[in-house]
Amino acid sequence: MEQLFAALEGGLERLNSAPTTEALEAVRVELIGRKGLIAELSKGMGKLSPEERVATGKKLNEAKQTLEAAYEARQAAFKSAALMQRLEAEWLDLTVPPPGVAPGVIHPITQIQTEIEELFVSMGFAVLDGPEVETEWHNFDALNIPPTHPARDMQDTFWVEGGHLLRTHTSPVQVRGMQTFKPPFRMIAPGRVFRNEEVDASHEHTFTQLEGMMVDRDVSIANLTYFMKTLLAKIFGREDVTVRLRPGYFPFVEPGFELDIQCMVCEGSGCPVCKHSGWVELLPCGLVHPQVLKLGGLDPAEWGGFAFGLGLTRLVMMRYAIDDIRWINSGDLRFLNQFGGPRA
Ligand code: DAH
Repeated sequence: MEQLFAALEGGLERLNSAPTTEALEAVRVELIGRKGLIAELSKGMGKLSPEERVATGKKLNEAKQTLEAAYEARQAAFKSAALMQRLEAEWLDLTVPPPGVAPGVIHPITQIQTEIEELFVSMGFAVLDGPEVETEWHNFDALNIPPTHPARDMQDTFWVEGGHLLRTHTSPVQVRGMQTFKPPFRMIAPGRVFRNEEVDASHEHTFTQLEGMMVDRDVSIANLTYFMKTLLAKIFGREDVTVRLRPGYFPFVEPGFELDIQCMVCEGSGCPVCKHSGWVELLPCGLVHPQVLKLGGLDPAEWGGFAFGLGLTRLVMMRYAIDDIRWINSGDLRFLNQFGGPRA
């Protein structure tokens, strides 16, 4: 009996210092479990005298209560330690400010398009939208492009079922303009155009142009030059853009020109950017061909006009010195985020 009581005393210490919940459970079974030490001692009570039995029973009861209390205290300690650990792991700082919205940027093509639209609107031009899926007639025939013209080659044009096509330029909107407005009128038509081309650093199947057209009486090359110089001054942010006209052939203008600007990198003295010519080809233009006016429903004896086709994609590349056209439609945020925040 004495020995067993001594074991009980040691047991209290073991409960208090059990290192894990498993160890604690093992000690509990050993001491106060159904076949544990207390149970063992209770069984031995039958051999005792009535007085001893009362005294021993009381002692055993007290011991059992002490051990149970120690067990529960230890178990509670384990539980709260586990809880603390969880709290630590799942801690959430509600005072941290939210990450905030990442504002997008306006695509550089859209930026330059908006700028040019604002300029032309301020000069009395209407902004016209044309369909990207066009009729062959608007895209070619009405622009005096004969069926034998290489631009109609299957390799350049994306054809759509039913004889329609993806417009290869914004010039068909000239035709729609003549059908829409009563002369005199001025219009621009920005938009996407499509060519069935092998994509590389300088060719894309999808790019953006901005068409312009002015129809009036006595429209001359001087009018054309004036508007083009105003446009370029705005785009390049300087008044003194020097331009020259070279003859260029396009079936829908006569005469037709390539408008060059003096190289802004070397001011005309020659450098790699202008291939040492001092000039950079910028936009094709000309006086509207009488046949085109006629097909648009206007009398060429009464009305004349100029037209130009500005490559917005090319212009963006020039303005920001972008050396690979594939960046433009890439949607790559590393590229796009360089173009500032959205306009106010
Ligand atoms: N549509 C032509 C092209 O994409 C560009 C062009 C040339 C447009 C001369 C014009 C023009 O308005 O007058 O190649």
